[in-house]
Amino acid sequence: MDIKIDRLPLPSSIIYFNMAPKVSISVVVVAWVLCVFMHSTNMFIAAVSVAASESSLEAKALRESGWWSGLSNETSLNHCKWNEIECNDGGSVTGIFMDDIYLGDNNIWKFNFSSFKNLVSLSLWNTGLRGSIPQQIGTLSKLILLDLSSNNLTGHLPLFLTNLTQLESFYIYQILISGPIPEELGNIKNLQILYLGYNKLTGLIPSALGHLTNLRVLYLSSNMITGSIPNKLGDLKNLQVLFLGNNKLTGLIPSALGHLTNLRGLYLSSNMITGSIPNKLGDLENLRVLSLGNNKLTGLIASVLCIFTDLHNMTYLYLNSNQFNGSIPIEIGNMKSLTYLNLSNNNIVGEIPSTIRHLTNLSFLSLSWNQISGSIPIELANCSSLANLSLSHNYLNRSIPSQFSDLISLRFIDLSYNNLIGNIPLYLVNLEFNLSYNSLEGQISNIFQNHSFDAFIGNKDLCGDFKGFSPCLSSSQIMSKIKISLLLTSFIVLLLLWCFFYSRCWVIGKTQSNPSRTKNGDLFSIWNFDGKIAYEDIIEATKDFDIRYCIGTGGYGSVYKAQLPSGKVVALKKLHHLEAEDPSFDKSFKNEVQMLTEIRHRNIVKLHGYCLHKRCMFLVYQYMERGSLFCILSDDVEALELDWPKRMNIIKSIAHALSYMHHECIPVIIHRDISSNNILLNSELEAFVSYFGTARLLDPNSSNQTLNWRIPWW
Ligand SMILES: *[C@@H]1O[C@H](CO)[C@@H](O)[C@H](O)[C@H]1NC(C)=O
Ligand SMILES: *[C@@H]1O[C@H](CO)[C@@H](O)[C@H](O)[C@H]1NC(C)=O
Ligand SMILES: *[C@@H]1O[C@H](CO)[C@@H](O)[C@H](O)[C@H]1NC(C)=O
Ligand SMILES: *[C@@H]1O[C@H](CO)[C@@H](O)[C@H](O)[C@H]1NC(C)=O
Repeated sequence: MDIKIDRLPLPSSIIYFNMAPKVSISVVVVAWVLCVFMHSTNMFIAAVSVAASESSLEAKALRESGWWSGLSNETSLNHCKWNEIECNDGGSVTGIFMDDIYLGDNNIWKFNFSSFKNLVSLSLWNTGLRGSIPQQIGTLSKLILLDLSSNNLTGHLPLFLTNLTQLESFYIYQILISGPIPEELGNIKNLQILYLGYNKLTGLIPSALGHLTNLRVLYLSSNMITGSIPNKLGDLKNLQVLFLGNNKLTGLIPSALGHLTNLRGLYLSSNMITGSIPNKLGDLENLRVLSLGNNKLTGLIASVLCIFTDLHNMTYLYLNSNQFNGSIPIEIGNMKSLTYLNLSNNNIVGEIPSTIRHLTNLSFLSLSWNQISGSIPIELANCSSLANLSLSHNYLNRSIPSQFSDLISLRFIDLSYNNLIGNIPLYLVNLEFNLSYNSLEGQISNIFQNHSFDAFIGNKDLCGDFKGFSPCLSSSQIMSKIKISLLLTSFIVLLLLWCFFYSRCWVIGKTQSNPSRTKNGDLFSIWNFDGKIAYEDIIEATKDFDIRYCIGTGGYGSVYKAQLPSGKVVALKKLHHLEAEDPSFDKSFKNEVQMLTEIRHRNIVKLHGYCLHKRCMFLVYQYMERGSLFCILSDDVEALELDWPKRMNIIKSIAHALSYMHHECIPVIIHRDISSNNILLNSELEAFVSYFGTARLLDPNSSNQTLNWRIPWW
């Protein structure tokens, strides 16, 4: 008897793996055969009558199931002749194969499983069954094959299934069962094939599965299994394929898996497995498919590939989306049987070795999303089976090799997001390709009219009669273009020089400035204030820093309140001129203010920007309506308003701000002067840290751990 296993919902990553499709199972022990060993005629007659009554019981159970309601009575006379039923010579049912026949929502509950004492195979794949797994199945003690897959059965994996000690093939994928994998499955010692994929199983992989030494296929993919891969799986000496992909596995790949010398396919992709690949996997001499993509594996790609260079059956190697680094070793040329190689989305650097030319069976190659540099090796043209080549998102330079026209199998090539130069080779016209975001130049030939604009976008030196690109110029046009651009360049340089000079002098120029000049829009006047505020607005709002608008003074200067034309109120700290005259101060002031404008915390006073000129120098920052905590505490009325819950909130806010400065800023900022004077409150009495005049930036690499840093008055 044959059992088909090639109708599985294989994920695309495994369709290339050709698993032995037929599984032979030893034939049934039949009541009839027992008769041969019986000596007495009476016993023989008794046995026949037992068999006959069993057979009629079975026939009754089948007819009452409602599964065969539409049969004509010619065929229905003998149930053993029904297509879906197999009987032994004694007329007793040994197999029920209802695959892909809709049995109706609740019909599984009408079926009297316990009538079938000799049942060996029960296959109910895709029959529309609902509810939990019927307990009566646990009484089918001779069962060798059980397939309940692709139904809507729910609930946990029931323990009574472990009574089926003869079971060799157990398919229970895609039926939505949840809960843990019972350890007791390890008692079904005859199990050869166990499919539990595409369910909602949780918990760990039980180590007890390591007792199933006859197991050839273990499929646990696409569940929500957690924990690490048990070492005990290394005891499954007969295992040929191990599918654990698309779960939530963590931990390392156990070296013990290297004992599985019959293993032909190992699928661990899309988990959260860490660490390096154990060298012992290099002992898996029959390995053809290794799928480790989309994990958190680390290590040098050179060491990783060298583990597998002696595996002469390896055709499929997926190591994509991990954290492998270093460069690709020349030994890659020894992996001659490789057909699919995916190293994309790692941290691989260096050049592609020319030994890649030995991979003549290579059909799919992806090295995208790495930091590979150098040129595209022309030796790739030797990989005559190449159909799909992705080298995008790297640092490849030089031109696209013309030799690739020899690659007759090539269908798709993605070279986008590199630094490739030169022209577009015409042989690409027969391919699907992406050359976007490179430095390609020259004419896009008309033969590419059927290709999408997206395939060329981001190459500014391409031209041609192509939508989105400007037409190419003749050589005389180019000459005149060069002349024009030279003129233009010199004009721009002069303009820039003038602007630079002007911007250094804008304070002087402001009195004569054109009155029609728009307010709220002069980006150059004040650094970094959303471009929504102009110097003139500030001067106007404070009537040129009139004493009326002054709300405080201190060692470094005075603080003004300014209401901008937009209605927004800001505080201005105008600095005394002394500091500004020191040229080194000028530079460090700019650097550090720039850094502080990037601080974003809801409990640190926001610096909006600054203005720096020897005539006037001020900082623009968030206005705090209630002033400093010190002032409020000194005022009897205001101090009463600040009740304990509000004080508690102030303490919390300050703690948050300090924690942010100490742990989340790079470099770390140490305030060094927290006091009630330096804590400001807004109209809602929310606290803000201010006055960074003595703050220091902590440079983690410097020996004294500090940088000199000073901003007066902020
Ligand atoms: C066969 O079916 C017909 C009608 O469907 C019925 O009249 C007849 O009695 C049936 N014969 C047997 C042997 O069941
Ligand atoms: C499973 O086997 C145990 C022990 O042989 C027995 O007690 C139990 O009833 C069986 N369960 C089913 C559902 O047959
Ligand atoms: C590779 O990554 C590891 C960490 O995963 C690091 O320790 C090592 O220095 C890196 N090697 C190279 C060559 O980048
Ligand atoms: C390349 O593929 C062919 C056809 O599938 C196969 O016969 C041959 O053995 C392969 N070569 C290597 C080196 O594996």
